[in-house]
Amino acid sequence: MSHAEDQTGTRRDFLYYATAGAGAVTAGAAIWPLVNQMNPSADVQALSSILVDIGEVAEGTQISVMFLGKPVFIRRRTAAEIEDARSVSLDDLPDPVARNENNEGAPATDENRSYGENGEWLIMQGVCTHLGCVPLGDAGDFGGWFCPCHGSHYDTSGRIRRGPAPENLPVPLVEFIDETTIQLG
Ligand code: FES
Repeated sequence: MSHAEDQTGTRRDFLYYATAGAGAVTAGAAIWPLVNQMNPSADVQALSSILVDIGEVAEGTQISVMFLGKPVFIRRRTAAEIEDARSVSLDDLPDPVARNENNEGAPATDENRSYGENGEWLIMQGVCTHLGCVPLGDAGDFGGWFCPCHGSHYDTSGRIRRGPAPENLPVPLVEFIDETTIQLG
């Protein structure tokens, strides 16, 4: 095998395309079987990093991609969602830590959990920190995510606000490659 051939099929070559169809996927447990079927194969789950095209994600919507066997929610937030998240006092947060792998141990401000101009991108693992259900988007008492398994409410920054979940939804390692491409892992 030549060196060039050797380079094909590396983990960097894999790219999720957030097509208009995928952009219509809004969130959560209800669409989980669909997302799971869209997942190409088990070996994709084993990739240690993936690229995701986020160019087609419209404001106020989110897509879910599989990464390391778990769903990752990628939401392009509205100005109102960002404002909501940023107006919360840290004293009102059950979990005071950002839970951002890029920013270990930082306080749970929305600024420490979001990306992009004005923080429009929220990228986090879609796995409830209680017992691992997939929370529903655009739901719950704080306008963010709601886990119907035992009633955990997350806000528009994915921070736990009420219910049994002990921690904020974790933000994985994320890097913006360009304006429309992110790398997870
Ligand atoms: S698994 Fe989400 S509230 Fe229990």
